[in-house]
Amino acid sequence: MRNDKSMTGNRTGDKLLVEFERRYERPAAFIARAPGRVNMIGEHTDYNDGFVLPAAIERETRIALAPRDDGEVRLAALDLNRHTGFNVDAIEPSLDEGWSNYVRGVAAGLRAAGYALRGADMLVHGNVPIGSGLSSSAALEMASVQAFGAAGGFTVPPDAAARIGQAAEHQFVGAKTGLMDQLASALGQAGHLLLIDIRSLEYRAVPVPTNAAILIADTSVRRQLASSAYNERRSQCEAAAAAMGVPALRDATLDMLAKVDVPDVVRRRATHIIEENARVLEAVAAFEGGDLLRAGALMNGSHFSLRDLYEVSSKELDIMAALLREQPGCYGARLTGAGFGGCCVALMEASHAEAAIPAVAKSYEQATGLRPALYLTRAATGANVRAVTS
Ligand code: GLA
Repeated sequence: MRNDKSMTGNRTGDKLLVEFERRYERPAAFIARAPGRVNMIGEHTDYNDGFVLPAAIERETRIALAPRDDGEVRLAALDLNRHTGFNVDAIEPSLDEGWSNYVRGVAAGLRAAGYALRGADMLVHGNVPIGSGLSSSAALEMASVQAFGAAGGFTVPPDAAARIGQAAEHQFVGAKTGLMDQLASALGQAGHLLLIDIRSLEYRAVPVPTNAAILIADTSVRRQLASSAYNERRSQCEAAAAAMGVPALRDATLDMLAKVDVPDVVRRRATHIIEENARVLEAVAAFEGGDLLRAGALMNGSHFSLRDLYEVSSKELDIMAALLREQPGCYGARLTGAGFGGCCVALMEASHAEAAIPAVAKSYEQATGLRPALYLTRAATGANVRAVTS
């Protein structure tokens, strides 16, 4: 089976370490890494205190770093060919170097939480496609937590790290995102999906059955997460919860919803959330019982609900999901992440997964004129940091 290899290597073979030394004229001391994520089911439920079932993926963001004796952070992005800097005593969002706001926001959050920040030279490199629904931003945030921790000699518990990443999104980027992406990136376990209860932050690792494969299909249409549509969905959910007198839609039922007078659009949004939470728990039972047919059917149901009730799909996502479902050995397919563009995820019978890639790529290109990217991923390990040895 072809798989998407993480970027690894020693000092001489690793482009990131070579570039670090060239740029900063000294070797890197640590490499922090954090994966992107794919969400199998449970979409837009996280900011409603609900359930999600993501996995960390083999695509990741890495930060090579060397601590400094002062409070300066020199920060460069290898893939973007950009660089910037700030001092840990005066952290502000940057207007010109927007990509750095995830790192700045994390530094500000760590400081506010009382961690003793130290300056560092940092170089970022990653292969999580940006704006594709695979959480490149959460990967950068969780790698940043690991990097500042290594520089300052502290460690941050995964749930605190996730909250600091989320606060960076809210305060430095302007996207009112939930906690799923950061938790998946921080907590990921090889070979497992994570059932996370976003209210309690309790989680359970759910093994990916050995005969199952996870196929990611990127429509190659990019979205803007900060766009108002995401924040608007969030307000509609809050309006529905308020109308029912519950703290969050997690606490609502369809019966309760039937009894309140809310605009039709709010009713549709809330219906999606209530039913999606139930689908997640049913999908966990299906995965744990090895019932991939049922898990796939629930994924299909999730997609249709996101398309019709939550209205976050797109023409390309619908085409991609339909093409995936037509493949032999496909149990189910749905958009993954916020929607409005980005990727689909398909649950495949492992022995059929490889063959689906060229077939779907060809049909998608014929249907849309766009060239997609399809790749298999295994569920990967969450964020960590290691010392560089020569
Ligand atoms: C984005 C957000 C998450 C979550 C998903 C939708 O990825 O960052 O918090 O809300 O959209 O499920």
